[in-house]
Amino acid sequence: MGKTSSNTRLPRAKGIDMAAYYAAKECARKVKRIVLPPRNRQIVEEFITILGMKEKFEQHEVPIPNKVVMFGPPGTGKTLTAFYMASRLELPLILVRLDAIIHSHLGETASNVRKIFEYAKATPCVLFLDEFDAIARTRENNDEVKEMARVVNTLLQCLDEFEGDSIFMAATNLETELDNAIWRRFDTKMAYSLPDEAGREQYISLLIGEFGQEEDVRAIASERLAGCSYADMEQIVLKAKRKAIIEDSPLRTAHIDEALAEYQPKTC
Ligand SMILES: Nc1ncnc2c1ncn2[C@@H]1O[C@H](COP(=O)(O)OP(=O)(O)O)[C@@H](O)[C@H]1O
Ligand SMILES: [Mg+2]
Repeated sequence: MGKTSSNTRLPRAKGIDMAAYYAAKECARKVKRIVLPPRNRQIVEEFITILGMKEKFEQHEVPIPNKVVMFGPPGTGKTLTAFYMASRLELPLILVRLDAIIHSHLGETASNVRKIFEYAKATPCVLFLDEFDAIARTRENNDEVKEMARVVNTLLQCLDEFEGDSIFMAATNLETELDNAIWRRFDTKMAYSLPDEAGREQYISLLIGEFGQEEDVRAIASERLAGCSYADMEQIVLKAKRKAIIEDSPLRTAHIDEALAEYQPKTC
């Protein structure tokens, strides 16, 4: 498995070429700078602890959680958390963009969903369905409505039958669009939001790293980037760092300001 790269298609999983496969080690590389707010960190840690104590839970006949839904605005770390979970559990991540499989072959969506779940049943992994709300989006015509009803039913069935050593994760920006019946199937729910001041400072520190900086850059950048997502902050701070490198100077507030003006984030 060591050779698996981010673009590698699922090995041995005939018929589910719409999924991407990431080995656990690759997942670990991607999450080096993850910032998990305390509440979500606690949820993740507890989840992992429980998986490490399976026998005890079985003794007490308490079911082990295995279905996580993450919801909140774009660029706040939902996809990254799926990589983090895979890395911590030392499982490969199977990433499926639900909107992509719906758009490319709508008529086969239900059977594709089934195939993906069958794969996860046979092979321990973190099965991650991104853009999960795609199943709930309003359809244009009757055939689509019917097919999507079929997809929802298939999903409900697959979620109910989901067992074994794999974990199911789903992410959505629009949790309000998710079918209630589906929502209820998740034993673990994590809300994501734009970073608060502590989150911004922590992330800026990680992004700046050991790079030389003027005093106060961190605090001022954190103020300037209020309202940005983590994804926007990353782009802006890296852009600022590039400017500092070109000038062969430490990172200054002016670099952050210029980068912010150039990047023109939608949210901040
Ligand atoms: N909480 C976070 N901690 C660290 N980096 C983040 C975080 N959220 C987003 N990022 C950065 O933004 C990129 C996109 O984030 P992603 O996890 O795809 O967001 P979402 O799935 O919530 O839209 C990540 O690859 C990472 O570089
Ligand atoms: Mg995402």
